[in-house]
Amino acid sequence: MCGIVGYVGEKQALEVVVGGLRRLEYRGYDSAGVAVVADGELDVRKKAGKLANLESLLGEDPLPGSTTGIGHTRWATHGGPTDANAHPHVSADGKVAVIHNGIIENFAELRAELTAAGVVLASETDTEVVAHLLASVLPATGHDLAESMRAVCRRLEGAFTLVAVQADVPDVVVGARRSSPLVVGRGDGENFLASDVTAFIAHTRHAIELGQDQVVELTRDSVTVTNFDGTPATVHAYEVTWDAAAAEKGGYDTFMSKEIAEQPKAVADTLLGRIGADGLLHLDEMRVTDTDLREVDKVVVIACGTAYHAGMVAKYALEHWTRIPCEVELASEFRYRDPVVDRRTLVVAISQSGETMDTLMALRYAREQGARVLAICNTQGSTIPRESDAVLYTRAGPEVAVASTKAFLTQIVACYLVALYVAQVRGNKFGDEIGSVVRDLANMPRKIDLVLDTAEDVKALAAQLQDSRSVLFIGRHVGFPVALEGALKLKELAYMHAEGFAAGELKHGPIALLEEGVPVIVVVPSPRGRSVLHEKIVSNIQEVRARGARTIVIAEEGDESVVPYADHIVRVPQCPTLLQPLLAVVPLQVFACAMATAKGHDVDQPRNLAKSVTVE
Ligand code: G6P
Repeated sequence: MCGIVGYVGEKQALEVVVGGLRRLEYRGYDSAGVAVVADGELDVRKKAGKLANLESLLGEDPLPGSTTGIGHTRWATHGGPTDANAHPHVSADGKVAVIHNGIIENFAELRAELTAAGVVLASETDTEVVAHLLASVLPATGHDLAESMRAVCRRLEGAFTLVAVQADVPDVVVGARRSSPLVVGRGDGENFLASDVTAFIAHTRHAIELGQDQVVELTRDSVTVTNFDGTPATVHAYEVTWDAAAAEKGGYDTFMSKEIAEQPKAVADTLLGRIGADGLLHLDEMRVTDTDLREVDKVVVIACGTAYHAGMVAKYALEHWTRIPCEVELASEFRYRDPVVDRRTLVVAISQSGETMDTLMALRYAREQGARVLAICNTQGSTIPRESDAVLYTRAGPEVAVASTKAFLTQIVACYLVALYVAQVRGNKFGDEIGSVVRDLANMPRKIDLVLDTAEDVKALAAQLQDSRSVLFIGRHVGFPVALEGALKLKELAYMHAEGFAAGELKHGPIALLEEGVPVIVVVPSPRGRSVLHEKIVSNIQEVRARGARTIVIAEEGDESVVPYADHIVRVPQCPTLLQPLLAVVPLQVFACAMATAKGHDVDQPRNLAKSVTVE
């Protein structure tokens, strides 16, 4: 939540910063603002609404040239999405400008202290207190912004990333980080700070992860990192492996449609190099010993949003292959209910961004109870993998659209790899059985490609259904979380009432929602697997149709038994039941994207949402 960019170098800072904000806008789009340092002064422009509003303002009221600047794109927490609450916030003396991501929990107390000292606050934000506090500390530190930042951070509670510049010292940008993301980009004669590497990938691929409670000072030629107490900090430098084009739309209308189309590659990349010539799995990078895995007596998956649905899918496979009991829980609920976890519990934290605060807090809680935490994450160097005992990275590449698509598929694949690996280590599965699942997995990219061929048909269906008041989704077994995910996508993007149900639960309440013409999307399992599942869902299709519903059926090629009861059929290639979510969810993603487009909504930046939710 909230995108942050800082730059110091030889280029025009405004161009670099606004370019970075464009790539970070997925993190929040309630307002945007920039500040540059020029001629001993700070110049700020900020505007409520999307970045385009700020760009118009900059056209009408240009900033002076400068090579040092900061910029922010906001997802509002404290204070509504107004011009006044937009960042940067400037101290009363005009000497310091600050941008912020996160929540300063003791801001009310700090605000009262400042007010008592006669400071008049210009906004309702928690951020503004930092600008005033920095200004008050600067004289005592000889105008050393990094030293002042450390002093102020020691007084702050909560989770925050802060970036500041000061009027009197050009060519210095200072950042601070506690539990919210901040990455350094190292260039030649220039350096960058950003919430995410996408902001500076067009300029450099050399990145540095910052740890907890650290302050970084950037000049054109130096990056100095210290802990909040002033001691030198150890940091981890790495190279970003994908290039700038990966974070561009590349000819697609929206990032979401591009990311849907990238799914075959994302799945193939996530499998790459993890299966040896012997057909066995090699997850050495996971950093968890086989002895540890043999001792596990329970798995708890924690995640939010789409990642939670991936975890729900994974439960079926994990319990089936390993026979270890598995619970899946929303991270926001987990730590508030006194969960039973101990050193024999393997907690799997799934997160595309690696920043979701609910997931981070839940994993910290799990570790405090002695559990081992394995992160499944798409973002290298992010907080969740850093704080976990082990990590398996998905290799989806940058996911920019707020609604998650390719991350979902790769999270399922990564969970399956972990489950198979655990089965391999514990001897629940023999090499040939693992080899057979692995071969099926390796065929999935080709099959996902075939599902993508149905996109035009699905888009036409969405156009027909765009005036529906409500869409219901039903499924059984792994089709149940797919139904939940289909409904979530439609809510997020089309702002429609959409709900997913376990098909068996329909008769216990939801069937009362049915009236003439209500679209019900049914995820049908393979008739070749556990045929009882298939038979039951065919009955469910008949039940909803008998009550006037319009039935849209996602069924395997060759499954003729659904034909008499389906108003519309979307075909997916044959595959084992456990792998079917990787195919069945794709038409649902396309459907939601097309529905949003038909309704004229912003597909990549749905209202009120943010891609990385870095507040609880
Ligand atoms: C937000 C996003 C969702 C995402 C969820 C979890 O709500 O809009 O698309 O599924 O966060 O994000 P994570 O980065 O932890 O997977």
